[in-house]
Amino acid sequence: MRTLKNSTEIKKTDHAEPEVSRLKQEVERLSALLEISDYLASTLDLDELLLRVMEVTRKQLNAERCTVFLIDFERDELWSKIAMGVQEEIRFSLDKGIAGHVARTGEILNIKDAYADPRFNPEVDKKTGYRTRNLLTMPMRNKKNEIIGVFQVLNKKEGSFTAEDIELLKAISSIAATAIENASLYDELNQSFVSFVETLSITLDARDYITSGHSRRVTLYSVQVARLMRLPKKEIELIRYAALLHDIGKLGIPEIVLFKNKKLTEEEYNIIKRHAVLSKSILSKIRFQRHLKEIPQIAAAHHEKIDGSGYPQGLRGDEIPRGGKILALCDVFDALTSRRQYKDRMDIVEVMDILERETGRSFEPFVVYHFKNITLNVLIEILEFGHKEDFKAQDLELLRNYTLKDLIRIRKQGAENDEEFQVAEIFMYYYQRKYRGE
Ligand SMILES: [Fe+2]
Ligand SMILES: [Fe+2]
Repeated sequence: MRTLKNSTEIKKTDHAEPEVSRLKQEVERLSALLEISDYLASTLDLDELLLRVMEVTRKQLNAERCTVFLIDFERDELWSKIAMGVQEEIRFSLDKGIAGHVARTGEILNIKDAYADPRFNPEVDKKTGYRTRNLLTMPMRNKKNEIIGVFQVLNKKEGSFTAEDIELLKAISSIAATAIENASLYDELNQSFVSFVETLSITLDARDYITSGHSRRVTLYSVQVARLMRLPKKEIELIRYAALLHDIGKLGIPEIVLFKNKKLTEEEYNIIKRHAVLSKSILSKIRFQRHLKEIPQIAAAHHEKIDGSGYPQGLRGDEIPRGGKILALCDVFDALTSRRQYKDRMDIVEVMDILERETGRSFEPFVVYHFKNITLNVLIEILEFGHKEDFKAQDLELLRNYTLKDLIRIRKQGAENDEEFQVAEIFMYYYQRKYRGE
């Protein structure tokens, strides 16, 4: 009996071993998929997400490249924003190539020799200088089983793609489809939020004909400074919206005071000053996403000064949010360089002298430092926002290599060479030019 029992046990183990290793493999596969799912769910940025999907798939399938094409239903095209190793956007008609075939038919195609297949579209290879040997192409379906895109995995590092690769790609594809749909939905929501804020800002700018375009120029300057300071993408976004809406409180100031031509009385000036607090209370009523929560505080701080002499709260130094310090400088720069009715712009050297004097009093020195590093092509395009049509491309090209700081040096100490002389001339031409009817 004992012998018999032993032999049965041995037999059991014989069977169990491949079973255990199969289960082990399955567990490994599932935990990899779980990891992928977590990794993909942790971003809602569509570009970033597509990049992650492609990177993960390429690694898991041990392939050289992976591209995810999404269907543009309006244009009947397939597009990919970031094909790995290729920078530009790839776009082609839905009836082209293997990806197009898969998008239309829903077939999974595992092609061992790309160039031997008449459906293969060699255009992308031609464009990128890449050589496709074999490729696995699979439709990506959403929860409703509709095809929303195509996965294309190129050049298996050893041999060609296997049945296991297909199974793995199916699993990744369904995880990716959900994440991509979520990100697209979020993207759409975000787009409608952006257009709402922009429209609000344009409306605000339109009301004030004297400072026409003010909010948008302040926004463009602020974003430039934030970029030069290398602030994180989310903070730049926060500053952008706060800048677009910083003067929204002016909607609550009577026009008779706001647009008064003569000198303001102290009482009237105090009424105008209320717009900063009003901006805060209006913006506080909007439910912003978490990373944009500080918009009301930043917008309200655009008249604060680092020595504490500003308004509405008289905040000092680092009590003022960083975005508020950036806004404060850009707001004054725009006011000083604006064309007022029947008046030319103040000379740029004089403007910078005023800002320089106020550095350390009104303005944070590091903000002024970065502001002076704005290149002249960007600066003139913002100054002339709305009058861009007759810029000469070669002028902008030349201005690109010089900053505001360079310009002030050239204007104060003289040009060191012909190019510097030319740069100052070109900049001043656009800066001082007049428009018909003005
Ligand atoms: Fe203001
Ligand atoms: Fe302003």
